Amino acid sequence: MFKAQQQSKTNFLSNNLAVQIQQLNYSFGIGDLSKQVLFDISLELPKGQIVILTGPSGSGKTTLLTLVGGLRQLQNGSLRILDQELMGLGDRDLVNVRRNIGFIFQAHNLFESLTASQNVEMAVELTGEFSSKRDQAMAMLSALGLADRVNYKPQSLSGGQKQRVAIARALVNHPKLILADEPTAALDKKSGRDVVNYLHILSRRENSTVLMITHDNRILDVADRIINLVDGRLESERI
Ligand SMILES: Nc1ncnc2c1ncn2[C@@H]1O[C@H](COP(=O)(O)OP(=O)(O)OP(=O)(O)O)[C@@H](O)[C@H]1O
Ligand SMILES: [Mg+2]
Repeated sequence: MFKAQQQSKTNFLSNNLAVQIQQLNYSFGIGDLSKQVLFDISLELPKGQIVILTGPSGSGKTTLLTLVGGLRQLQNGSLRILDQELMGLGDRDLVNVRRNIGFIFQAHNLFESLTASQNVEMAVELTGEFSSKRDQAMAMLSALGLADRVNYKPQSLSGGQKQRVAIARALVNHPKLILADEPTAALDKKSGRDVVNYLHILSRRENSTVLMITHDNRILDVADRIINLVDGRLESERI
């Protein structure tokens, strides 16, 4: 009986977390050239939170984000994403983990030869959904205020519009975890604000967790939490 209660409590706690990191270290290079960049990181991100990660250049923010996203293999510690442990997973398993995550980078990485809609449809194809891909892409682009731009190619879109297409692509499969690395860095104030507002609205609607790196002080207000990484260590946290 007691064991069952313990079990259900554990399940409740872990099910409420999108990300759970325990005592994570990470080094680049091997042997004498090895350089540790992340030190003893422990962090829990509940579902539905928008968390901003700040810190000086070179402090390890992108490295941490790529580990959370399954873009590189863990070395030690524990990292659970949506109740799956990533420690010990090889490249093939990490590909499957990445399917459940929406990535937004500073550079939008759109295909120039494809229209806005086709860029988003490509993400839907990865899930095997072919018949509804156009409808899904249109719905997400419309939600981001791009209904009248779906047939434009990236070269005919503004920086803010391109970044919104990239966000549509990241969100179209309704990921429960969204990782963004300086999504507003290349944008002017208004476009940056629009992008963040859309991210906020969509994450609230879908109850998804957002972990976003930014140096942009103008968008900090969107965060439920702000965490600070200095020299590879989590230093402080503002809620
Ligand atoms: N592939 C790599 N090989 C070796 N060292 C690396 C590699 N990538 C990053 N580093 C080093 O790891 C440290 C952390 O880099 P990281 O990119 O995580 O920093 P960051 O906080 O994202 O910085 P920025 O704000 O400038 O983007 C830096 O000292 C960097 O030089
Ligand atoms: Mg970085």
